[in-house]
Amino acid sequence: MVGAVPERVQRAVALLDLRGDAAVLEIGPGPGAAAELVLAWHPGVRYVAVDRSATAVARTTARNRAAVDDGRLVVRQGDVADPGLADTLGGPFDVAFAVNVNVFWTRSARAEAGALAALLVPGGALWLVYETPGDDDRVVDGVRASLAVPELGEAVVVHDGVVAVGARRPHDAPG
Ligand SMILES: C[S@@+](CC[C@H](N)C(=O)[O-])C[C@H]1O[C@@H](n2cnc3c(N)ncnc32)[C@H](O)[C@@H]1O
Repeated sequence: MVGAVPERVQRAVALLDLRGDAAVLEIGPGPGAAAELVLAWHPGVRYVAVDRSATAVARTTARNRAAVDDGRLVVRQGDVADPGLADTLGGPFDVAFAVNVNVFWTRSARAEAGALAALLVPGGALWLVYETPGDDDRVVDGVRASLAVPELGEAVVVHDGVVAVGARRPHDAPG
């Protein structure tokens, strides 16, 4: 049984359009609701969740204890702005995503986006999803600027109760 999952998280997970055997990276899981939902819907997924907060790591781990114990979920503490983090996360991933992790629009996070893109399989997608108080344009413009890196193709924007900006790693991407 899945616990209470906020609607933004449900919408974010739905738009990822995951395969049942996908490798998934989540940045900033907070309480771990997305991991719980994904692993309930897709028991064959391999999921890595990384959060800079020890509290979030503990909450995600506790909420998803069985999946951690059987190895389907790995929860790590780390800051996506740390240039060394990507090397510790495993991969490659089919999908990387974050929900309401503001660093991608509050400042230029091109280095972070490039490092995450390098962890994707060719054709893999990076999705940054936000529940905004209404100022979607500011968020979208900021995220687009962060995703404008050579490792990613053109960004697309989806408005579906949340605003999501995504880009794929091209099959002929550098790195
Ligand atoms: C607003 S909460 C959202 C939690 C969850 N994604 C949700 O939507 O319920 C943002 C989470 O991202 C984490 N976070 C923020 N910036 C981060 C960064 N630079 N690297 C890793 N985690 C980060 C925070 O610690 C927090 O757990």
